Amino acid sequence: MNLLVTGAAGFIGSHFVLRHADRYPQDAIVVLDKLTYAADKHFLDPVWKRITFVKGDIADPKLVTKLVEKNKIDVIVNFAAESHVDNSIKDISPFLRTNVLGVQNLVEVCKAHPEMLLLHVSTDEVYGDQSDADPACVPASPLRPGNPYAASKAAGDLLILAAVRTYGLRARITRCTNNYGPHQADEKFLPTIIRHALKNESVPVYGQGKQKRDWLYVTDHTDAIETVLAKGCDGQTYLISAGGDRPNLQTAYAVLDQLGRPHSLISFVTDRPGHDWRYALDSSNTRALGWEPQVEWEEGVRRTVEWYRKKSQS
Ligand SMILES: NC(=O)c1ccc[n+]([C@@H]2O[C@H](COP(=O)([O-])OP(=O)(O)OC[C@H]3O[C@@H](n4cnc5c(N)ncnc54)[C@H](O)[C@@H]3O)[C@@H](O)[C@H]2O)c1
Repeated sequence: MNLLVTGAAGFIGSHFVLRHADRYPQDAIVVLDKLTYAADKHFLDPVWKRITFVKGDIADPKLVTKLVEKNKIDVIVNFAAESHVDNSIKDISPFLRTNVLGVQNLVEVCKAHPEMLLLHVSTDEVYGDQSDADPACVPASPLRPGNPYAASKAAGDLLILAAVRTYGLRARITRCTNNYGPHQADEKFLPTIIRHALKNESVPVYGQGKQKRDWLYVTDHTDAIETVLAKGCDGQTYLISAGGDRPNLQTAYAVLDQLGRPHSLISFVTDRPGHDWRYALDSSNTRALGWEPQVEWEEGVRRTVEWYRKKSQS
């Protein structure tokens, strides 16, 4: 296969490319990334000679068309996104450009190359807030995004699903719960806790830390995407989750325990506006393809903390 992997200098996309390059030495991999603040192309150093790296924007029609045609691309895997909720609350513009117009541009290129498959990486946040009593969402559950980031991701998903129906576009969507692991941008929840705790500074936690998230180790997510690529069906949406949510405060405690820092470092700060209480996904359609998570929470936290500890020393 010839793959175009977009956004692969970021958190999840970089892990996907590192593993894919090792597992499928015969595949050609082109990476397209705009290199925003969330990116670091050095994440790809171990496979740099195996890939073709292009700095650019998924919203650029000429560039994406040129890359697809020149490299005879069979599959686009789209990780490119603006991904931080707090940033979307301050300024929606880059989110609309990348998560909506950028995705529509990929749709247009796929329409012109109907054999090509688009695997689009999306999020549990498109389903919006769940109460503790709500059953886990299934692919067809209504989309009720509760913040600007989630709304932009839902818009991208809907544009793809509409193109599947209208033009017979070959596309698969994956929606995953919160990821953690090495390479995540400093602003996100676990990196924030680790960075502050390493410096013995107070660790900010929104509200009372009662919101719940279902954390999945990043390579379990990328393995699920590989499974959907290999065994999924076009036109379908696949849900990916570990299947056990925990309150944010417990997550913060787990990280502090791993670092040997006291829980008293935590300081509660004004809650995020519209902060969703909980997300829950029923991942049985991805598990039916043979995928299941491999990395236990304790081991995942250990690996994550170690990576940020080394990063802080370099
Ligand atoms: N991080 C999570 O917990 C999580 C959970 C579920 C789904 N997702 C989804 O997975 C995808 C990847 O998330 P992430 O956490 O790796 O994000 P990230 O912010 O770490 O990385 C995004 C990457 O996309 C690149 N990019 C941004 N705009 C671009 C553009 N217009 N053209 C080309 N490249 C561009 C950035 O430079 C960066 O390298 C996103 O679609 C996100 O919605 C993330």
